[in-house]
Amino acid sequence: MCGIVGYIGKRDNPQIGLSALKRLEYRGYDSAGMAVYNPEKQEIFCLKAKGKISELEAKFSDAPLHGSPFILHTRWATHGEPSEANAHPHWDCEKNIYLVHNGIIENYKELKELLIAEGHKFASETDTEVIAHLIEHYFKNNLEEAMRQALKKVKGAYALAVIARKDPGKIVVAKFGSPLILGINDNEFLVASDASAIVSHTNQVITLDDNEMAVLSPNDFFILKEKPIEKIEYDAEETQKQGFSHFILKEIFEEPDAIEKSIAGRMILDQGLAKLGGLEQVLEQLKKVDKIIITACGTASYAAKVGEYMFEEYAKLRAKTEVASEFRYKNSILDDKTAVLAISQSGETADTLEAIKEAKRKGCLTLGIVNTVGSSIAKETDAGVYCRVGPEISVASSKAFISQLSILALITVGLGRQREMSLVTGKNILEELQKLPELSKKIFNQADYIKGLAEKYSIYRNFYFLGRKYNSSIASEGALKLKEIAWKIHAEGMPAGELKHGQIALTDENFPAVVICPSDSVYSKMKNAMEEIKARKGKILAIATEGQEDIKNLADDVIYIPKTLEMLTPILSTIPLHLFAAYLGLELGLDIDKPRNLAKSVTVE
Ligand code: M6R
Repeated sequence: MCGIVGYIGKRDNPQIGLSALKRLEYRGYDSAGMAVYNPEKQEIFCLKAKGKISELEAKFSDAPLHGSPFILHTRWATHGEPSEANAHPHWDCEKNIYLVHNGIIENYKELKELLIAEGHKFASETDTEVIAHLIEHYFKNNLEEAMRQALKKVKGAYALAVIARKDPGKIVVAKFGSPLILGINDNEFLVASDASAIVSHTNQVITLDDNEMAVLSPNDFFILKEKPIEKIEYDAEETQKQGFSHFILKEIFEEPDAIEKSIAGRMILDQGLAKLGGLEQVLEQLKKVDKIIITACGTASYAAKVGEYMFEEYAKLRAKTEVASEFRYKNSILDDKTAVLAISQSGETADTLEAIKEAKRKGCLTLGIVNTVGSSIAKETDAGVYCRVGPEISVASSKAFISQLSILALITVGLGRQREMSLVTGKNILEELQKLPELSKKIFNQADYIKGLAEKYSIYRNFYFLGRKYNSSIASEGALKLKEIAWKIHAEGMPAGELKHGQIALTDENFPAVVICPSDSVYSKMKNAMEEIKARKGKILAIATEGQEDIKNLADDVIYIPKTLEMLTPILSTIPLHLFAAYLGLELGLDIDKPRNLAKSVTVE
């Protein structure tokens, strides 16, 4: 989703901004732009391009701009098609105010009508442009004052970076509902949508909170309230591909490490206890909880579903997954004995954030499993557990999902041991969990084989993904990942038992099924589904447990995963599905890091 970069300081080459902007490419975008204040000419100059940042860079090489401050933006179209006119920065009638924006202005139509009636002329179809004209309306040579007035009229979400020709020497930034951080360096300040854009310049950052505004000048910055400077906990190297051709491959290959990092130091093995520091302050409240709702979007919602099964079976706690975009509207029955657990890689997903706010309004205890430290969801929830897997750059989520599953297993032990779970069961789950980093590494010995399968299956345009019980939502994750990364293919994931209730009508020799069938309590039922597919000449690619030789009688191809506890099988069965999707996307010649139409961090509802 939209990315913002801004700079003010001693350097006057906006190439720094372009390099930072490229680090936000992963968020997804379809046009880019920049505005630079030239102090000699006392003018703001602007460049925009539809498509990739490289298009903008080419324009910049042809006609370089110099000066400071400068603001840059990648736009992911919401209001108005991807075009140069709709790309940010946007400006006012006088070409005084230039701004970049991430978020959605919900009352932009009303504001636009009022501004047009006043004589303002609009140049784009965007919601963003109204903010430039609204600031113009209030501007009396002090940018922050005009912004303060203007933002009182705005409804919706925004992260804004604004410069003004008639009030030069400053960038004014403001945040409500969309992320924005400040980077602090010697005599220079940066602004960005997230830390990965600026970590090569500084690791000293301030995360703005909602309703905050900051004024950055070359030698100083001013926020409306005192805030601590935080340190970014990863370095620039972690945001590089480190020898892999694509981030998604690097991140899938990091999945064993993701399990390790998610569980490290979080177990007291001999007591069969989970040691989750982030939940300690709410342990007493958690004992009283009689229902947990897990809310999330996309891939994270599939992790939630696995968590639901774990919590009910092992923690003996009523659990339910609610897709976050529905949560607010469904009006679930909630009370102070309900905990609402949000799962989010970015910690900025607007739907999930709103679900948490709604849960808080209704008096629930709110918890988070979040990867991005200091993100909005991490701050909004009462307590939570960080994934600690470092930045996930590829648009499609991979290692974060594996981490979410690992943490859900830990929370299951935590909740379970507060209830009926025995020491023996708690110990057993933790011991098996501890083996997973090593066991999961073994799956990568089949990487070339999986690549070969991706080539073999690349002739098909439709796939089913089937699983049961713990792996029913892994089927959905496998299908989503294939649709995202290899977007020329349609895939549907479902609980295997559903196949015979309708979907099987489509099965024939051109419609293969990926069947997740480890040796678990539902294996025999999975075999029934496979028989049904075989009887209709459907090809089967099975994910089975090492030693399950009989599967070869039913499946055309088999990828084996190591044996583990049934509730932990999703952590292993997901890995080959992620690899299969990535290799299939490559096979189809697609940009597997940036699937078309998608944004990494979905900060609009
Ligand atoms: O950052 P979040 O985990 O909250 O994101 C949720 C979904 O938007 C995300 O998982 C999405 O489905 C990905 N494209 C999946 O690969």
